[in-house]
Amino acid sequence: MNTHANSLTDSTAAPSARYTRTAVVLHWLIALLIIGNVVLGLTAESWPDDWVRPVVDTHKSIGITVLGLALLRILWRVSHKPPPLPREFPSWEKIAAHFAHFLLYLLMIALPLSGWLHDSAWKGAATHPMHLFNLVPWPRIGFVTSLDPALKETLHSRFGTLHTWLGYALYALLAMHIGGALKHQWIDRQSVLKRMMP
Ligand code: HEM
Repeated sequence: MNTHANSLTDSTAAPSARYTRTAVVLHWLIALLIIGNVVLGLTAESWPDDWVRPVVDTHKSIGITVLGLALLRILWRVSHKPPPLPREFPSWEKIAAHFAHFLLYLLMIALPLSGWLHDSAWKGAATHPMHLFNLVPWPRIGFVTSLDPALKETLHSRFGTLHTWLGYALYALLAMHIGGALKHQWIDRQSVLKRMMP
């Protein structure tokens, strides 16, 4: 008889268990966009003067795209059961993996949202309307843009700091997430990576 605990962890119960095509596409698309956006965010001020504005604008557009894709991914996650982790994994590793995944979902929302709040509180927002990829007009967050200018200035700086710190949390979690996947691949020789491969 298959207990509930077994159905969550037993690799033999579902030898071909893997993520669906939708989950795989969303995973790698979001991963690529996030890594690209970290590079653009960290290097924004180092580009030649003429490039800084287009680079920051592209960073914002990619960030909003990630926000939309992350919401789709969360919808997928709440409507599907992911393939169970192999039963051989120690429970501390399963708990750590689930905790990291939960925090990654949280960051996929909180990071772009903090950037959007930071940008909405920018004093130049009114004179620099936002367009996604130079094409689609995109709003600032209304309740922030309508605040008193002095308060907006303070919030701009606070949200900017929050955005930076959420970035640090992302680097730590990505190191754990990628490190875990590679450990299972090369040290434990029990691939979980192939379940997320196209
Ligand atoms: C996937 C989502 C995002 C990621 C991973 C991300 C990451 C980053 C990182 C790592 C930085 C550099 C922070 C530092 O070290 O000080 C940054 C800066 C910034 N981000 Fe984001 N961000 C995202 C989304 C957004 C969004 C949606 C917006 C606005 C709509 C935004 C606006 C900004 C701005 C204005 C800066 C400062 C750029 C400059 O140096 O002038 N970000 N971001």
